[in-house]
Amino acid sequence: MPVITNIQDLKELHERRVPRMFYDYAESGSWSEQTFRENVSDFQKIRLRQKVAVDMTGRSTASRMVGEEVTMPVALSPIGIAGMQHADGEMKAARAAEKFGVPFTLSTMSINSIEDVASFTTKPFWFQLYMMRDTDFVSRLIQRAKDAKCSALVITLDLQILGQRHKDIKNGLSTPPKLTLKTMANLATKWAWGIEMLSAKRREFGNIIGHIDGISDPRSLSTWAAESFDPSLDWNKVAKIKEEWGGKIIIKGILDEEDARMAAKMGADAIIVSNHGGRQLDGALSSIRMLRPIVDAVGDQVEVHIDGGIRSGQDVLKALAMGAKGTYIGRAFLHGLGAMGQQGVTKALEIIHKELDTTMALCGETKVTDLSRHNLLIPEDFEGRWQKP
Ligand code: GLV
Repeated sequence: MPVITNIQDLKELHERRVPRMFYDYAESGSWSEQTFRENVSDFQKIRLRQKVAVDMTGRSTASRMVGEEVTMPVALSPIGIAGMQHADGEMKAARAAEKFGVPFTLSTMSINSIEDVASFTTKPFWFQLYMMRDTDFVSRLIQRAKDAKCSALVITLDLQILGQRHKDIKNGLSTPPKLTLKTMANLATKWAWGIEMLSAKRREFGNIIGHIDGISDPRSLSTWAAESFDPSLDWNKVAKIKEEWGGKIIIKGILDEEDARMAAKMGADAIIVSNHGGRQLDGALSSIRMLRPIVDAVGDQVEVHIDGGIRSGQDVLKALAMGAKGTYIGRAFLHGLGAMGQQGVTKALEIIHKELDTTMALCGETKVTDLSRHNLLIPEDFEGRWQKP
């Protein structure tokens, strides 16, 4: 077993272990992948201020996200078909998150269902909702999330239509995989994954199959998104969902100050500054670049969270010091899941926690909640100067 010291090590194991179409699904952005790449590279432009001779005993990374206590403010992002990266993937990731003391968010487009995850965990998790044309189905999903005692609803607003990811089309992405010569040749080299998958609880969309009719190809995520997602979703509909849910709401997919103000005005408990991991509008700015203007616009009215590009505890620290109250990891935990199942997710969380804690100490801070912009060196032109429309 190789010695695993960082997320990149888990990524390499993930790539080796999991069939190409699922690895590629995770590790891609839309079109030219500019936003996908810059989500990561823009974090590296921010530098850290070293501070010495500060008593670094009694450190704590503990904080709160939407009022819930967390071991560190790092939640697991909702990820479509995570259960194809590892058998029972969502159940295992949720259990790893629960044991670590961080929130797990189940995607609408998961393999394990809401009920599967609820039966495998003891604390409430968060449920991510896509708005569908079939409002009865949406109401049933909301009721299922309530029955499972989910403690927050994450409403994604940046995927009314699916951005094009070239690799998914070329690979013929489907769940379970369609057995073409190309996929069979690749699956033949992934036997450990395949053996585990044979005994998986599910290999299809667990929240959908058996709960909705009329999808022409229920194995295809892109067909499902194209046929079922509601392209007419607007703020009025978001307000109705908020009312129907009646609990905590997190609005995901905000990358613009005006949108942030709308979300704050409608009483969201938190917003997630996000471009969907660079998978939707290619050419949009990275999440970390948009964080400061959004925090400055609404940070006193709503909790501002961020996802996109976080691959280390140092990235977490930069986002928190910039003003985020919470962060999310998607690919960083998925690499652990693909590499080693539940143990791999735990490993990813341990790596990020250690990097966060050590960096915090070397920056002369003992509490994650005390981090602020004085810990950072931010290039003067970091956000860019753009012409007014
Ligand atoms: C779905 O959320 C995706 O990005 O594929």
